[in-house]
Amino acid sequence: MSRFFDLVSKPARDLGIPNVPSSTSAARERRSQLVKLDSNENPFGPSQRAIDAMQAALGNTNSYPDDDCGRLRRELASYHGLPPEQVMVTAGSTALLSLLCRTLLAPGLNAVTSERSFIVYSMAVQAAGGKLVEAPMQADCFNLEAILVAIDGNTRIVFLANPNNPTGTMLEAPVVESFLARLPGHVVLILDEAYYEFAKHFATLRKVKYSNSLDYVRQGASVVVLRTFSKAHGLAGLRIGYGLGPAELLAYCARMRNTFSVSSVAQAGGLAALDDSLHIRRVVENNVMQSHMLEVGLSGLGYRVVPTAANFLFCDVGEDAGGFANRLQEEGVAIRPLGHWGAPQCIRVTIGTPEQNQMFLRAASIVARGSGPGFREPSFARRK
Ligand SMILES: Cc1ncc(COP(=O)(O)O)c(C=O)c1O
Repeated sequence: MSRFFDLVSKPARDLGIPNVPSSTSAARERRSQLVKLDSNENPFGPSQRAIDAMQAALGNTNSYPDDDCGRLRRELASYHGLPPEQVMVTAGSTALLSLLCRTLLAPGLNAVTSERSFIVYSMAVQAAGGKLVEAPMQADCFNLEAILVAIDGNTRIVFLANPNNPTGTMLEAPVVESFLARLPGHVVLILDEAYYEFAKHFATLRKVKYSNSLDYVRQGASVVVLRTFSKAHGLAGLRIGYGLGPAELLAYCARMRNTFSVSSVAQAGGLAALDDSLHIRRVVENNVMQSHMLEVGLSGLGYRVVPTAANFLFCDVGEDAGGFANRLQEEGVAIRPLGHWGAPQCIRVTIGTPEQNQMFLRAASIVARGSGPGFREPSFARRK
């Protein structure tokens, strides 16, 4: 047994080896040359406005940042129509997920979510010493009845990723509202809206109501809404996100956070990006058009695609997804095989720029051609 096994905490022992990509420099070099459609990043990057603000902030990095993120918190509060005490800024929304878990959970307590949801929930819950209970899905969507059944007296958190990663499916506002009304008082609902801007745009086009989540926060419900600058704003590498929720709960979370964890450059970038509507419009409009193009292309290859409300597609390729992803990587494209999510024949592919998506479809058609029967000439190729 290793030297530290008996010394480290039980959660650290139980967490196992995280699923991190190989970090040898050769592997990194190879990966940097791939068309990267595996992490739901923004293919257009940050806006010029955000870049300028970050560059301007670089000259002051000899000073520690504002630990309270006061200016950004006030801007976010007025942007969302909430008091600043109901806003908490963290180094990415995943940092707030961990804080909420460490604040609300302990050994003997649990959190409930769906199977096949955001992988960080299980890591954050286990690191806090709690247990994650995963309710079964129903046809690629959350089964909210099953989630309600899984809640017991020791449940403190329910996570709903809306839209869900990796399936891309969305719960409409009335459905979330009636779910919330049925949650017992000892449970905090974490509504993870990392893909908010994409979902809102899809919902507008589909003439459905995506989210009333901030109303629940305004009404004082036990709800924390998570948002991030990592997706539509294109700042994933900066690490900045935030939560909107009950002031008292966020104040407890603030006690648990690391000092100075949100850099001054990140605060400046977030401030500049917050209402950069031109950039966000370009990103979400490309996403809708390209999601349609990818859906047609993948269906033309004979694959089942789940309609998305986010910036990625969940697709059943009808064979071992790990092997499929490896062959795709040989053709120069990185996507995410979903074996770890209990979907061994499914992949998640980020919606990229038109050029990236064409490269992906071209690579996928080569891989599909090598997969034998069932392959059909792709519709995008037929159109040429
Ligand atoms: C559902 C969900 N929540 C949160 C995040 C991560 O957000 P952040 O970069 O703000 O930590 C992701 C990223 O993939 C996600 O899919």
